[in-house]
Amino acid sequence: MKALILSGGKGTRLRPLTYTGAKQLVPVANKPILWYGIEGIVAAGITDIGIIISPETGEEVKAKTGNGDRFGAKITYILQEQPAGLAHAVKVAQPFLGDSPFIMYLGDNLIQSDLGLFLEKFSAQAVDALILLRPVANPSAFGVAKVDESGRVLQLIEKPKVPPSNLALVGIYYFANTIHNAIANIQPSPRGELEITDAIQYLIDDQKRVEACQLEGWWLDTGKKDDLLEANRIILDTCLESSVLSEVDDESKIIGRVQIGAGTKIVNCTIRGPVMIGSNCYLEHCYIGPYSSIADGAKLVDVDLDHSVILQGAKVVGIHQRIVDSVIGQRAQLTLAPQRPKALRFMIGDDSQIELA
Ligand code: DAU
Repeated sequence: MKALILSGGKGTRLRPLTYTGAKQLVPVANKPILWYGIEGIVAAGITDIGIIISPETGEEVKAKTGNGDRFGAKITYILQEQPAGLAHAVKVAQPFLGDSPFIMYLGDNLIQSDLGLFLEKFSAQAVDALILLRPVANPSAFGVAKVDESGRVLQLIEKPKVPPSNLALVGIYYFANTIHNAIANIQPSPRGELEITDAIQYLIDDQKRVEACQLEGWWLDTGKKDDLLEANRIILDTCLESSVLSEVDDESKIIGRVQIGAGTKIVNCTIRGPVMIGSNCYLEHCYIGPYSSIADGAKLVDVDLDHSVILQGAKVVGIHQRIVDSVIGQRAQLTLAPQRPKALRFMIGDDSQIELA
């Protein structure tokens, strides 16, 4: 059994963060989203992993993730020149996959469930494809499945305007080698992509065995800002263990589950967990509220922050109003003069969103 993780694509919905980096490397609880997928795959006993990368962000994904040693896996990087669709990515990966069955994992998806449970079912039933379904409120944003009363899959449609059900396709699929023939027989969709949804529909039409499981537990497609904040909240809620490896002065109060990395200095702050703070940060006179993650090298002075994600090397100084539900990019600077400002001066990148609420 092999695994194929898709970490190419353009990441347009997470702009501006994804102008300068891969969306799969955006951190959730200070760890790249992509790494959760790798860890889940390795935990299911699969160590031969191919990762699809794009020309724009591939080098960054490789440099950050490495050859797999840190996960106990062997990683092969596979370049997809154009984001021509999920099924196109499988086509490009065919030399790596050979005839092996494989898990296909979309690099921006996070699930709570154990991948090994579905793997057992896939292997025991010897099906051509096992897909995971989950009821959602906005099915038009996903691949959608129509199933009969017994749960048998009748039809799959990618991002339908009028969805036949509320069952979305989760971005984790189990395939036998018959998927390659299906992909060879489909045409690009109206949006110009070779859709994996259409390839699975081809299997159904060709009387191949396609099974579906309903996914229990949470599932997050971290494509947008609010999804990212929600992923951060859930991971901090469920996985964070307290550990303070740094200097905290006597004026500071640490309440609840808080993790602080080495080399960080905390001066006169109140930190109410769950909160994760990376290494080599400087925080002075701040209130940091629940469900916040602050990445390595960030500097926060006179800041009141809640339910937000601050990326590596960002600097936030003198913002006395509470910052909530925010994502602040790598090395971004948000500062206010000590006296009440008479004017606001901005240098804001393309597609940024500033809401003075
Ligand atoms: O998240 C679940 C959904 O994922 C499914 O319900 C849909 O059926 C499926 O098509 C997919 O839809 P998205 O619109 O969310 O896919 P997206 O373009 O965001 O790509 C998913 C991942 O695959 C992302 O990490 C980028 C990567 N990718 C994407 C394309 C189009 C590639 O590596 N190569 C590509 O050509």
